[in-house]
Amino acid sequence: MNGIRIAPSVLAWNLGNLERAVEISVEGKADQIHLDVIDGNFAPNITFGPGTVKALRHLTDLKFDTHLMIARPDAYVDKFLDAGSDLLTFHAEVLDGGMFDELHKTVRARGKEVGVAIKPQTDLPQWAADRLDKISTLVVMTVNPGFSGQRMDMSVMPKLQRLSTLVRERGLGTDIEVDGGVEPENAGEVVKRGGNVLVAGAGVYAKKDPVRAISVLKAEAERARRPT
Ligand code: DX5
Ligand code: ZN
Repeated sequence: MNGIRIAPSVLAWNLGNLERAVEISVEGKADQIHLDVIDGNFAPNITFGPGTVKALRHLTDLKFDTHLMIARPDAYVDKFLDAGSDLLTFHAEVLDGGMFDELHKTVRARGKEVGVAIKPQTDLPQWAADRLDKISTLVVMTVNPGFSGQRMDMSVMPKLQRLSTLVRERGLGTDIEVDGGVEPENAGEVVKRGGNVLVAGAGVYAKKDPVRAISVLKAEAERARRPT
């Protein structure tokens, strides 16, 4: 079983001081850093691009988990690889099997990992189910892409459970990442449904003590795995 990993989403911090957001993740012993790239086209917000990812890279060796909520990932994949992303997650809604294969080839040629994300209302397309072995992280979104601080959509839980069962039945090591509204109160439920990577924006950065919030989340998630 894959270990629990906490991935703070810097989108929830002051975007004028992302260096501090990364430092908080380092101090709190986060497992990876979630970087939300939004283009104002795929989703209704504009965040930051490869230049920002590159500017943060010198601060840490932590895994840079780059969530590309953009309409044309093919046009930017090389730039995010150059910037130092370790995991590049593409949205299933803008791809088909052939486009995924191209992106996968590009990312793997640089020794990096490929993720696939789906919005709350999206089911995993057949082309992605057929290529699960090529996907290192399946990102199940529990809010609509765009903004931090939304409430988790619990109606996604059956899909989360179904997809994590599918991964397990196939004997794959795919991480199941849950993105949107993760808080200490729902971390246990997410883990029971098969999630192992927990993205948290407001669940870390909106807390009074964000460094401590990372270990609080991890403890809640790990508690859900222990037999009662
Ligand atoms: C939404 C982003 C999420 C979000 C997470 O578009 O993909 O990563 O910032 O933030 P919270 O945890 O506050 O929902
Ligand atoms: Zn995200």
